[in-house]
Amino acid sequence: MDLIVRPAHADDAPRIVRIYVDSWNAGFGSLMPVITVDSARVERWRNELSGGRTRWWVAELDEFLAGFVGIGPSRDPIDPTLGELDTIAVDPAYWRSGVGTALMRTALEGIVEAGFTEGILWTLSGYDRGQRFYEAMGWRRDGGIRDNGHQISFRNSLGRPQRPRVGPTEPSADQTTSVPPGPPPTYPPL
Ligand SMILES: CC(C)(COP(=O)(O)OP(=O)(O)OC[C@H]1O[C@@H](n2cnc3c(N)ncnc32)[C@H](O)[C@@H]1OP(=O)(O)O)[C@@H](O)C(=O)NCCC(=O)NCCS
Repeated sequence: MDLIVRPAHADDAPRIVRIYVDSWNAGFGSLMPVITVDSARVERWRNELSGGRTRWWVAELDEFLAGFVGIGPSRDPIDPTLGELDTIAVDPAYWRSGVGTALMRTALEGIVEAGFTEGILWTLSGYDRGQRFYEAMGWRRDGGIRDNGHQISFRNSLGRPQRPRVGPTEPSADQTTSVPPGPPPTYPPL
């Protein structure tokens, strides 16, 4: 099978929304409410893909769009050295086929190319599938929590040695990040 990753275009919005909705419902299960495809969601994605703070790519498997990923500057914390991995999602029909790996590789290269020195992402605290994937991709928990403990953060040192982390994985009070001023980031954003 031929797998390529290319920049996303506004015309990819309908297929991206289908993947977003299917992977959300299949992946999060009872952790999150079921979501549906609707024209408003497609329009939000079309606008998002037309330009903004996030750079998006799609993975095509034999020319069929199978997944997508985005990166941008970190929103929480706001830190110019930190690049954030935004949503990454793969059509459930293609899980465990290496599509997520290819997307993650592109995203991490994009974070480095953009000049960030470290990567951050936020995910659901009880979400084992996502956490195992992120750990396999070289991400490590950094102790950050938000949304009353429902979300936790991971960091990626982008090939540099990981910062030493002392003690158990549960965060101490001073490791807990705060939500920046303004509306709190939603999860995922669209
Ligand atoms: C998480 C997700 C993006 C992974 O995509 P994928 O294409 O299946 O990932 P890959 O096939 O490249 O898997 C790479 C490695 O990650 C790990 N991994 C992925 N899914 C896993 C799972 N369910 N359980 C354990 N490890 C897993 C494995 O080490 C895997 O390598 P292997 O298959 O050789 O053992 C996909 O499951 C998805 O879209 N889920 C719903 C949305 C989501 O969870 N997004 C991320 C969190 S918000």
